[in-house]
Amino acid sequence: MDHLNKSQEVLEIPEREPARQQYFTEKCAELVSELSKSLGRPLTCCINTFGCQMNARDSEKLLGILEKMGFEESDSEKSDLVLYNTCTVRDNANQKVYGRLGQLGSIKKKNPSMLIGLCGCMMQESAVVEKIKKSYPFVDVIFGTHNIYKLAEIMYNRLTGKKMVVDIQKEAEEIVEDLPVERKYPFKSGVNIMFGCNNFCSYCIVPYVRGRERSREPEEILAEIRRLVADGVVEVMLLGQNVNSYGKNLKNPVTFAELLRRVNEIEGLERIRFMTSHPKDLSDELILAMKECDKVCAHLHLPLQSGSSRILKAMNRRYTKEDYLNLVERIREAMPEISLTTDIIVGFPGETEEDFEETLDVVRRVRFDSAFTFIYSVRRGTPAAAMEQVPEDVVKVRFDRLLKEVQAISAEVCGRDVHTVQKVLAEVMDDHQEGYVTGRLSNNTVVHFPGDESLIGKIVDVYLEESKGFYYMGTMR
Ligand code: 5AD
Ligand code: SF4
Repeated sequence: MDHLNKSQEVLEIPEREPARQQYFTEKCAELVSELSKSLGRPLTCCINTFGCQMNARDSEKLLGILEKMGFEESDSEKSDLVLYNTCTVRDNANQKVYGRLGQLGSIKKKNPSMLIGLCGCMMQESAVVEKIKKSYPFVDVIFGTHNIYKLAEIMYNRLTGKKMVVDIQKEAEEIVEDLPVERKYPFKSGVNIMFGCNNFCSYCIVPYVRGRERSREPEEILAEIRRLVADGVVEVMLLGQNVNSYGKNLKNPVTFAELLRRVNEIEGLERIRFMTSHPKDLSDELILAMKECDKVCAHLHLPLQSGSSRILKAMNRRYTKEDYLNLVERIREAMPEISLTTDIIVGFPGETEEDFEETLDVVRRVRFDSAFTFIYSVRRGTPAAAMEQVPEDVVKVRFDRLLKEVQAISAEVCGRDVHTVQKVLAEVMDDHQEGYVTGRLSNNTVVHFPGDESLIGKIVDVYLEESKGFYYMGTMR
């Protein structure tokens, strides 16, 4: 009888997506509902997200699926399901996950029916999965970056079995559209325009864990944004590891600049942001589109990584110090108000004092609004891992010097709009000051001003009264 049911079930399971996952979501919903009846309370889930905007967006999709299964969101790690969406771009991200997994293990000892899941970039590394199987056998499900859409099926397999379920796809396959999503903010949203990266910067693990570049069809992107706008979204952040190479692999190629112009036409949408741009691919066509599209925000994140042409070559970045400075000049010529932010790595293998001073030189010349600075971290399997490393103490001293420089400049440039009235998107209630709202200018700078809950999600005029270095205090006009 059992056998018959099983084969009947197999016949019922749709092969194609997203129908297949809808089927498993319903199956899970039945199981979750039974469990919750027996417990006399709803089941809770907590998703902990590490890393970049891409992971943040993936977590919204994961939560969307879990809510369809009947889980209620919670921020407690004592939830019935705790899912870590991991990052592996630098080793400290990995270490954090191992540390917290140890703590989760103790919580699970007290509550054996608790489920623990791991997904995201770290899980695409086979050595990591082996370590977890061996040292953290209490983990229930493991999946990677290419199959988050399969969460329902993976959860179903775990709920109907006893063992840890490990489901890692080595390569990305189709892009699965139309999955449920639960947004963190009702008024703004990330929108994936492409997945993966083909650049293979020699320090970076992303191409290995996120696979080759795949662009979504422009119609799918535009339809998603229109749906979001109808649902109250006023700001979108177009997401891709290298948005400037968007559309190259489509059957009918489209440039990122063309996409931007089409997104800009969507009625009801107020702000467009995008991340991340690679300097080697940022075209004049894009600069013009940014300048001409009124909804595109006055902010560009343009990772420099190093100011030394020699190091940039070893990093396989495919631009020189001069190319970068030249690009910044063209961008500023077209958009004098634009705020520029960047990423910089200190201590890349072979970096000398002279190389490092080239980086400081670019920082002083460009005067970034802010810069994320990172100590180079060896990533297994990347070309730079085999190169000669810079001693840790040398790197630490350089890192502190760079940070000081970056912060001093940033404190000077961030306040340039003081005593003007600017459009601000009110985003959250201020956690530090009762009766204050925190919002963002088009150029991404934060401003706090008196206001209430009713303003959240609205764009309002704010007078910037005082610059505090990295943020403003203001009042509504
Ligand atoms: N070590 C340090 N920083 C890194 N990044 C990427 N890989 C590494 C690494 N191995 C930084 C880059 C990138 C940002 C997201 O992370 O600056 O732009
Ligand atoms: Fe990594 Fe370079 Fe791709 Fe960015 S462009 S994700 S740094 S390989």
